Amino acid sequence: MSTETLNQNAFELIGVGRTYATEAGGIDAVKNIDLVIGRGEYVVIVGPSGSGKSTLLQLMGMLDQPTRGHIKCAGEEVSALSEAELAEMRLHKVGFIFQQFNLIPTLTAQQNVEIAMFPTDLTKDAAKARAIKLLGQVGLADRADHYPSQLSGGEQQRVAIARALANEPEILLADEPTGNLDSTTSDEILTLLRGLNDEGLTLALITHDREIAESAPRTYVMRDGELNSQETLSEATGAINTAAL
Ligand SMILES: Nc1ncnc2c1ncn2[C@@H]1O[C@H](COP(=O)(O)OP(=O)(O)OP(=O)(O)O)[C@@H](O)[C@H]1O
Ligand SMILES: [Mg+2]
Repeated sequence: MSTETLNQNAFELIGVGRTYATEAGGIDAVKNIDLVIGRGEYVVIVGPSGSGKSTLLQLMGMLDQPTRGHIKCAGEEVSALSEAELAEMRLHKVGFIFQQFNLIPTLTAQQNVEIAMFPTDLTKDAAKARAIKLLGQVGLADRADHYPSQLSGGEQQRVAIARALANEPEILLADEPTGNLDSTTSDEILTLLRGLNDEGLTLALITHDREIAESAPRTYVMRDGELNSQETLSEATGAINTAAL
C-alpha cells in the first residue's frame, strides 16, 4: 500500500448540499457541509428529527448524489466515478447500517448476510462460511437459521451489522443503530461497534442517544441541514431530547 493510500482521509466533504425536488418546491435537506473524517476515526452526529442526518449519511455512503459540492471517499472523488466503480466502492469500501434494519424477511439471518457477498468473487461455500463466522462475532451463532420475524430488534440489528461487515469495509456508516433498542441491547451494540473501531474501522454514527454522543471523541450537531462542530453537547441537549421524544 502506498504512503498516499495510507494518508487518505475516509471522507472529505466540501460545500455539500442536497435539495430534494418536491411538488411543493425544493427541500434543502443538507446545506453547504464541510467535513473531514480521518481513517480510523469515530464520529457521531446528533440532531433533531428532520435535520438532514440520514440524508447526509446516504450521501457519504454513495447511495445518493449531492446536488452541490464535492465528496471524496477514501481519496476518490465520488462524482468522477463510473457506475461500475461506484458499485465497487459501495461493495468493498463502505458498510451501511440502515435506520430500519432493511433485512429481507423471506431469508434467514445467515442468508441475509450471505446475499451481501453475491456480487463478489467468493464461492458459495466461502460466503456461507464467512456469514457463519460474522454471525458468531455478533453473538448470533445459534440464530443463523432464524428469519427476521423470529429475531428480537437487537438481534435483527446485529444481523444488519454482520451484513454491513460482509465484504470487509474500511468504513462503517450507521444510521441510528440503537434507535429501536432497549438500553442494555443498545449498550451491547455500541460495545460491538466501538470494538470494530478499535480494530481500525472508520465509524460514523447517527444517534439520538445522549450517552453515545457523550462517549464519542468527536460529535457534530446537525440542525436544519447544517453541521455545527462548535455547538457543545450541553447546548445541544434540547436537540437530542426533542428528537428523542
Ligand atoms: N426523498 C425525499 N424527498 C423529499 N424530502 C425528503 C426526502 N427524504 C428526506 N426528506 C426531507 O429532508 C429532511 C431531512 O430528512 P432526513 O431523513 O435526512 O432527516 P433526519 O435528520 O435523518 O431525521 P430523523 O432523525 O427523523 O431520522 C426532512 O425535512 C425530510 O422530510
Ligand atoms: Mg434519519
